[in-house]
Amino acid sequence: MYRFTLPRDLYHGENALEALKTLEGTKAAIVVGGGSMKRFGFLDTIESYLKEAGMETILIEGVEPDPSVETVMRGAAVMQEFEPDVIVAVGGGSPIDAAKAMWAFYEYPETKFEDLITPFAFPTLRTKAKFVAIPSTSSGTATEVTAFAVITDYEKGIKYPLADFNITPDVAIVDPALAQTMPPKLTANTGMDALTHAIEAYVSTLHCDYTDPLALHAIKMIDENLVDSYNGDKEARNRMHNAQCLAGMAFSNALLGIVHSMAHKTGAAYSGGHIVHGAANAMYLPKVIAYNAKEPEAEKRYGEIAAFIGLEPTSKALIEHINEMNKQLNIAPSIKEYEGGIIDEAEFLEKLPTVAELAVGDACTGSNPRSITPEQMERLLKACFYNEDVDF
Ligand SMILES: [Fe+2]
Repeated sequence: MYRFTLPRDLYHGENALEALKTLEGTKAAIVVGGGSMKRFGFLDTIESYLKEAGMETILIEGVEPDPSVETVMRGAAVMQEFEPDVIVAVGGGSPIDAAKAMWAFYEYPETKFEDLITPFAFPTLRTKAKFVAIPSTSSGTATEVTAFAVITDYEKGIKYPLADFNITPDVAIVDPALAQTMPPKLTANTGMDALTHAIEAYVSTLHCDYTDPLALHAIKMIDENLVDSYNGDKEARNRMHNAQCLAGMAFSNALLGIVHSMAHKTGAAYSGGHIVHGAANAMYLPKVIAYNAKEPEAEKRYGEIAAFIGLEPTSKALIEHINEMNKQLNIAPSIKEYEGGIIDEAEFLEKLPTVAELAVGDACTGSNPRSITPEQMERLLKACFYNEDVDF
């Protein structure tokens, strides 16, 4: 038996935010990130719509990019005091991810963080509050429709992907106006993250008849719109906002693969700086396709993707196409060249066995179409560092 779970309601298109006026509840906790939602006036609009719906509101502000365990605990404490029956998370992936974890600790104050990191073992949520997610500037993670959240433990330098259908939001509001504020670099990174979601979902060992059409259509939309969106085309940006969400629906139910395992474990591992999630995926995706394609079933499915977007039906054609997209989006082809070389080669090599081992153990590895040993993972990561061909 398989499960396919999405939010109960999804509002999209122009003025979708107005759906907030129809929400039922008495108290809403609004979780936001930095200042952009406030600056562009969306926060005021959201607050006024919630008041129109008869709700008292409280703000939990300042969720940082790659939210920390501490931020989650701070927000949960505010919720325990205020007792909201609606949680409205607004912004990029980070505030929505953080709010999902806050929600769990609000409903179960005695829970420990360690209890939540076992995949699909969450306690039953929605005994106190419903969850509304409104994605904005970082459209890409599609956390508004997924069963996932990534929380960073900075002390240990590890990103924890939380996974459970309990944290799939009740309502998603995908309003294109919020995506228009996104700067080009973020557009490129989050767009490639979305493409990775759709491709990994399509070749996942858990893909099914319900996830395949979502993944394929998302890939086609991203292929047709991402570069234009990066170059400032407004309509293409609107289409990307929907495309990333479709990709999210696919991967929330089909899960992902080792591109994400590698991105999770390399993201916060080096002293030179973070490797931003979307950029990491963009760099690793072509290498992983080459690795996975040694498995005949995976080669066949990559070929199906390639054919669907008008290429030769091979993994090779798909790889070349993705490399070309990365070039047009000004994304570095290797970790070594990432952000002008902020990741130190000696440190990378020193940490390689540990990072490889952690990546193999990541929750996303289980649904990858080809199995991988720590030794193979070391070779793959090395190929990503030096931009070498993968032929093993
Ligand atoms: Fe991702």
